[in-house]
Amino acid sequence: MHANAPAPAPDEIRALVAPLTALEGPLLPMLHALQREYGFVPQDAVPVLADLLNLGRAEVHGVISFYHDFRDAPAGRHVLKICRAEACQAMGCDAVAETALQRLGVDWHGTTRDGAVTVEPVYCLGLCACGPAAMLDGQVIGRVDRDRMGQLLDEVGA
Ligand code: FES
Repeated sequence: MHANAPAPAPDEIRALVAPLTALEGPLLPMLHALQREYGFVPQDAVPVLADLLNLGRAEVHGVISFYHDFRDAPAGRHVLKICRAEACQAMGCDAVAETALQRLGVDWHGTTRDGAVTVEPVYCLGLCACGPAAMLDGQVIGRVDRDRMGQLLDEVGA
């Protein structure tokens, strides 16, 4: 879903997730279904899910916010994930991240104003021996120093 697309109506949300109610532990499958369909979990989904699953809204919100992969707004055209876990920290990921965030003018989870790039933290990409690691549009990249980060941002037109 594009950043400027209208948010889905509660009835549409209900129609999408209601068939999953019978699953064991249905909340996570429902959240995944919403994110797959819309690219994020709409705020209006919270009361719908709470009603369907007989949960409090705070409980639903708590689960959404616990898992970093669930977004509350559409992502940009490119998604840049930067590893912030221990091994990458030891290799200087903080400086790489600072370079990216400053150049893009966003904070973590932010999307540039032109909708080009969303930056997200990630906690290990399985590339610990080649840190600092990042992932751009699903492709894992190792040894990302400041210069390499600059090149990656050039590639996505940021
Ligand atoms: S700690 Fe960064 S890839 Fe594992």
